[in-house]
Amino acid sequence: MAFFRTINFTDLMPSIEGDGVILRMPQMTDFEEWAALREASRGFLVPWEPTWPDDDLTRGAFRRRLKRYAEDLRTDQGYAFLIIRASDGALVGGLTLANIRRGVAQAGSLGYWMGLPYIRHGYMTAAVRAVIPFAFATLRLHRLEAACIPTNIGSIRLLEKNGFVREGYAREYLCINGIWQDHLLYGRLKDASIKG
Ligand SMILES: CC(C)(COP(=O)(O)OP(=O)(O)OC[C@H]1O[C@@H](n2cnc3c(N)ncnc32)[C@H](O)[C@@H]1OP(=O)(O)O)[C@@H](O)C(=O)NCCC(=O)NCCS
Repeated sequence: MAFFRTINFTDLMPSIEGDGVILRMPQMTDFEEWAALREASRGFLVPWEPTWPDDDLTRGAFRRRLKRYAEDLRTDQGYAFLIIRASDGALVGGLTLANIRRGVAQAGSLGYWMGLPYIRHGYMTAAVRAVIPFAFATLRLHRLEAACIPTNIGSIRLLEKNGFVREGYAREYLCINGIWQDHLLYGRLKDASIKG
């Protein structure tokens, strides 16, 4: 337990620099800014995310979240990043590489959220572009996957402009905002060309 209380993820994982953004592992000192941004963005994010637990924005839940991230990192199951604006250090959103599968798959799933005050500034495009070399060169994955609800126009645009190709349609794929919802399935291979 003491390990998790004192751990500083930035010691374990170097940050990733993108165009105007820095991706780094979250730490306990991020709690207040993270919780304030999530609260300010609640109405915007809730329709697109799994149901938020009642205590989601508490310090205790954030501590548990960091423990999960540390375990995922230790076991190479997932990599969670905060997106920091390089110009002023503001926390603007988050991005996760989750469900890493090794063996014959060498694949992982991309997830992301942007705080409402910061949407449509290109920060998520920069963050996805920065994490792609990390996924393919550093982690040596072969394939990145993402899924989104068909009405999520921003997410679709983000994926398609970053070389993700629509590969399928999965019925009631994920329980989002308390409802099993159909999703579009996207994939990006290591050598996909980036569409601008
Ligand atoms: C999806 C999301 C991360 C995009 O973040 P963002 O900060 O707007 O991303 P960017 O500014 O990099 O924009 C990416 C592209 O999508 C477009 N876009 C973003 N929101 C859009 C919208 N509501 N309608 C149309 N286009 C949109 C942008 O214009 C940009 O395309 P362009 O470069 O051709 O102009 C953000 O809208 C979000 O957090 N949504 C709620 C949570 C969510 O959907 N999570 C993912 C679930 S699959």
